[in-house]
Amino acid sequence: MSQFKTWFGKKKEAGIPEQLDETNIPKHVAIIMDGNGRWARRRGLPRAAGHHAGMKAIKRVTVAADNIGVEVLSLYSFSTENWKRPRDEVDYLMKLPQEFLALELDELIEKNVRVRMTGWKEGVPAHTLGAVEEAVEKTKNNTGLILNFAFNYGSRMEMMEAVRGIVKAVQSGELTLEQVDEASLESRLQTAGLPDPDLLIRTSGERRISNFMLWQLAYTELIFSDLYWPDFSDEHLYEAILEYQSRNRRFGGL
Ligand code: IPE
Ligand code: IPE
Ligand code: MG
Repeated sequence: MSQFKTWFGKKKEAGIPEQLDETNIPKHVAIIMDGNGRWARRRGLPRAAGHHAGMKAIKRVTVAADNIGVEVLSLYSFSTENWKRPRDEVDYLMKLPQEFLALELDELIEKNVRVRMTGWKEGVPAHTLGAVEEAVEKTKNNTGLILNFAFNYGSRMEMMEAVRGIVKAVQSGELTLEQVDEASLESRLQTAGLPDPDLLIRTSGERRISNFMLWQLAYTELIFSDLYWPDFSDEHLYEAILEYQSRNRRFGGL
């Protein structure tokens, strides 16, 4: 019944729009959190200030998603291509998980949130990994919202690795060629065990996927917001979900 924990008659107080249909909440919401740098530049601040403000938005949106019974919230936090950025910016981004978790882990535990990481550990500094792994470990038995950080994640690499895994399994005789199917690939993706996203939101006005969950987004509803990520709030999440609820998902049928 976690779905309705703040709902009955309390939508207004929680800022949840009355029209939101509680029987049609996307199970998995994924967000490409973009625009931190432009948010900062517009204010004459260093890019790091934008990333810091973006962290506050993560908190707001996580609470909002949890309130309406979203089951998985995937947040694209650092891509395999983001290593191309200047060293000081990368260093700052690698500090944010620690900072976020130092502030929020207790509340996440209290809210029964389960933290998960999708992405490669290789290359991520020990101090960053330590914080994330501690959060994953301390929340592993939680049964509420799955807060999935896509960190050092890229979809092409993910699919390539899955293909390698399949080829190996065929070579070793563990799988026959005929047995290779969608499930064999999916079980080898970083997102194994998670449902595909129902809704993808990208902020900042960019209308592209930037190597995020290319396989998993096959039938996902896409919503692009012109807001920079640090300006994104619970009300914007609810608006996006209202739009999602107005869409007709056909999955190739009629
Ligand atoms: C998103 O904001 C955060 C990450 C990619 C880590 P950006 O840093 O990409 O912000 P813009 O796109 O330069 O405004
Ligand atoms: C996508 O944003 C990656 C994350 C939000 C972590 P980018 O800012 O890296 O994407 P591009 O380079 O504009 O496509
Ligand atoms: Mg960007």
